[in-house]
Amino acid sequence: MRIENVKKICVIGAGNMGHQIALSAALAGFKVICTDISLQMLEKAEEFARTYLPERVSKGKLTQQTADQGLSNISFTQSLEEAAGDADFVIEAAVEMINVKRKLFADLDRITPPQAILATNSSFIVSSKIADATKRPDKVCNMHFFNPALVMKLVEVVQGPHTSTETAQVTMDLCEKMGKNGVLLKKEIYGFLVNRILAALHHEAQFLADMGIATPEEIDVAVTNALGHPMGPFRLLDFTGIDLAYYIGMERYQETQDPKDKPSPLIVEKFAKGEWGRKTKKGFYAYE
Ligand code: 3HC
Repeated sequence: MRIENVKKICVIGAGNMGHQIALSAALAGFKVICTDISLQMLEKAEEFARTYLPERVSKGKLTQQTADQGLSNISFTQSLEEAAGDADFVIEAAVEMINVKRKLFADLDRITPPQAILATNSSFIVSSKIADATKRPDKVCNMHFFNPALVMKLVEVVQGPHTSTETAQVTMDLCEKMGKNGVLLKKEIYGFLVNRILAALHHEAQFLADMGIATPEEIDVAVTNALGHPMGPFRLLDFTGIDLAYYIGMERYQETQDPKDKPSPLIVEKFAKGEWGRKTKKGFYAYE
């Protein structure tokens, strides 16, 4: 397989990450089908594409022709078979639960053409935990985007011990075609580069807030003003989703049994209250 053979991309999941990964690929000229079990999420994703593209055109950031092509390249379906049946490349951006991902990859192995590459956008889980659910582990890798995926340039590609060099190369080439800056890791490590660094920051920020040393707002002001980050750790948690932070912590803790990997009391409390950040209009901050 070469990048020239990649014509049709299936994106699984129309949530925070999936809808923007799908649109990025459509704008790069690929035929994209985005699938989700939730019709509501698919409708939201389609509505986003229909409003985002004209806004970009009126801001002078996109030509009308690219916007029109982008919109005609993307479609949405609840049917995994329809979305993945003739895909050359699949990017899975479903919920961060290993069992869900393993089941999906087993289904994808059955549904997709044998040469198709299956990549996971997981935030933390290395693909060797998933690849053995398929009969094509050489065609499985991590392809990790950052939120918002239409804006953030970096994509981490992780070549596991099972991943062929060809698969890693096609995935890196796909990053380039999508206008992204791909970084290739040839050793698997849980959380890859960026989320490990971010986790260290978040761990300390949540510890300081849990101890009552400073409020989330004060910590955010400190981090944005002192370190120049565009968002402090709590605003960023609201942005990426407190549910995601909770699931990541639980997955990690189940694996390591190390109490420091457990979601912090603040995250557990927010998760239980359904205050998951921007997506629920309330997290550490309130949103219109
Ligand atoms: N979707 C698409 N585009 C968006 C957007 C969104 N949700 N929010 C902002 N943008 C675009 C705007 O259209 C604008 O584009 P333009 O300059 O080309 O016109 C640009 O981003 C700047 O937007 P704004 O001026 O409205 O707002 P800000 O300057 O505050 O930028 C931000 C918004 C880009 C989100 C910025 O706050 C930021 O970079 N925040 C940090 C994001 C971050 O750290 N991401 C990584 C999270 S970790 C992760 O994703 C890991 C994963 O595993 C969970």
